[in-house]
Amino acid sequence: MDKQHIQDAELFAREFFSGDATGHDWYHTDRVRRQAVSIAKQEKGKADICELASLLHDVGDEKMHASQKKGEAFVADWLHQQSMDESEIIQVKEIISTVSFKGGHNAPPQSLEAKIVQDADRLDAIGAIGIARCFMFAGSKGHAMHIPEQSFRESMSSAEYRDNHSSAVHHFYEKLLKIKDLMHTKTGSERALVRHQRLENYLRDFYEEWEA
Ligand code: ADP
Ligand code: NI
Repeated sequence: MDKQHIQDAELFAREFFSGDATGHDWYHTDRVRRQAVSIAKQEKGKADICELASLLHDVGDEKMHASQKKGEAFVADWLHQQSMDESEIIQVKEIISTVSFKGGHNAPPQSLEAKIVQDADRLDAIGAIGIARCFMFAGSKGHAMHIPEQSFRESMSSAEYRDNHSSAVHHFYEKLLKIKDLMHTKTGSERALVRHQRLENYLRDFYEEWEA
């Protein structure tokens, strides 16, 4: 793989996400790419593989295609048009297919690089940016900001988990507050703790103002 492949993947992703306002925009991809490269350097992973996979990680997301299969095929087609080693293509495809959270139903990442990219993607779902993305996503789906009648702090039934009409604040309990314990790399875990604390602080302030 060389610099040209990274540049071409960047163009491909930029073009693909132009105009998306659901939190799946180019800037998310760019943040994940920078985060993944930075973690890869700390963890001694292959930074170029992480960078390429990060750039492509949401291009094939099932939400952007008719199905997960079609999404993966879309990215695979692009990869096979590049003059890259077959072994690199296989590594990148493996990373992309394991990176999504999907309620924890995807196969766990095996390679160090897949762990790094998943950590980078998850870091972008927490902290100040994660909070912003959560409210953007909820707004785009017409979900409420907060439904105090559905309020709960630590426990939630599995039926509530599946409730598609939950609020943005619900999503903190459904996913965001769990992320710190799902990190794979030491570097990712350390960074997640800082961002986790921001979620906790935010919720504390949010409830204080709500109940004022
Ligand atoms: P990614 O895997 O790239 O982080 P997702 O598609 O899982 O992306 O979600 C995009 C963003 O929207 C994330 O920040 C996520 O936390 C947020 N999000 C996903 N589902 C919900 C939801 N039901 N309510 C609020 N925010 C959500
Ligand atoms: Ni992502």
